[in-house]
Amino acid sequence: MTLWKGRLGEGMADEVAAVSVSVGFDVALAEDDIAGSRAHVQGLGKGGILSPDEVQTLLAALDRVGAELAAGVLDPQPGDEDVHTLVERRVTELAGDVGAKLHTGRSRNDQVATDLRLWCRRSLLAVAADVVALQEVLLRRAREAGDAYLPGYTHLQRAQPVLLGHHLLAHGWALARDVDRLVATVERLDVSPLGAGALAGSSLPLDPDYVAGVLGFSARFENSLDAVSDRDFVAEALFDVALMGVHLSRMGEEIVLWSTDEWAFCTLDDAYATGSSMLPQKKNPDVAELARGKSGRLIGHLTGLLVTLKGLPLAYNRDLQEDKEPLFDAVEQVRLTLRALAGLYATLEWHHERMQGAADGPAAAAVDLAELLVVRGMPFRQAHELVAGLVRESVARHVPLVELVQAHPDLGDAGALVLEPGVPVTRRTTPGGAGPAAVAEQVERFARRLDVDRSRIGRHERPTAGAAPAAGT
Ligand code: ARG
Repeated sequence: MTLWKGRLGEGMADEVAAVSVSVGFDVALAEDDIAGSRAHVQGLGKGGILSPDEVQTLLAALDRVGAELAAGVLDPQPGDEDVHTLVERRVTELAGDVGAKLHTGRSRNDQVATDLRLWCRRSLLAVAADVVALQEVLLRRAREAGDAYLPGYTHLQRAQPVLLGHHLLAHGWALARDVDRLVATVERLDVSPLGAGALAGSSLPLDPDYVAGVLGFSARFENSLDAVSDRDFVAEALFDVALMGVHLSRMGEEIVLWSTDEWAFCTLDDAYATGSSMLPQKKNPDVAELARGKSGRLIGHLTGLLVTLKGLPLAYNRDLQEDKEPLFDAVEQVRLTLRALAGLYATLEWHHERMQGAADGPAAAAVDLAELLVVRGMPFRQAHELVAGLVRESVARHVPLVELVQAHPDLGDAGALVLEPGVPVTRRTTPGGAGPAAVAEQVERFARRLDVDRSRIGRHERPTAGAAPAAGT
């Protein structure tokens, strides 16, 4: 179906169709398009532009089209440029003449902006729920890890021991900020553009506040030009996902390292590992590598959209059609990654002895020795130099550090005790620190944060918009 047959002669050239037809991907908006059209029809009824019978006929047709699309039995025909055209064509087939009234007072410009905000609202909340599911796995593994510890690193050099639970929750808290960003983006984009028309509103008695309410938006647009022309909400969604991708890439990199024979802190479950087509012995961490690798694609989608948006004159421009594929792909890819990582972390086998062995030793307690001296009245800079000198001497003369510490008049037995395996991490007592008491408290705070986030996500969820009752007609 062509939407402008009065104005232009001939059909669209094949090359034009090839470059511009979007129904192959924007059919993902079908549910939202039906919801938006239902609200619009109800608005036309409220304004007296459609009779109650006409409203009922159109709503019934829209419901049927929605069901056909959901069942996958409605295929685009040549001329169905996008999902909006497809739906209107099919409604007209089903409803007869009244189908020609569906688009009254509306443009595809406010229609697509409405659809995309509805899509973002439900999809970003679904991403957030997937993040929480991964966080739940991290929380469970942190609880199970108990007092197991491993080296904490700076510059990828062993620095101080930390509890395994502390390390896992470091990723958990970063993901909590990702959830926060997703929810904040949903709150900001929760504004209806419906009623903005092509760019300037309408001469007909439309009520943008009413249709915004029907669609469960918390507000309507303030400015029709802005409503149809900005995709800042898509850019925000892509940023949220890209930054989360960066977080997931760090987790992936860590598992890649930890599962090597060199580190051997963990073994992947067979179901979350891959083999090699040539090397029979291989067990590869492809899931972790893909979690690391997807971030490039996600960052690319954000960058691409920002460049598309830059310098676009007000109001709608067809360039904006380029917003959808990166958005759909980013959301799909990050959800696949989140779910695969949740399974990977749930099934990882930890090697506590290996971790703890790496964390024990002089490096684990050097700062504790210095702090012991501080407590006994020595200025920290002097204590640092004294302990550094002992470490240096231990390395140079191949003498165990503990012997030098034991023999030193300022350290002695108390110093040697601090060097006992497993002791240093227990000395990390400050809030938010890496020791057992602080981590036990952190675990509970993290569990509470997940409860809060689950209910924040739930508060923004709406019933499937396409199935909204035909109230207000
Ligand atoms: N497929 C278009 C898009 O995604 C729908 C809006 C078309 N509007 C127009 N004036 N050609 O942006």
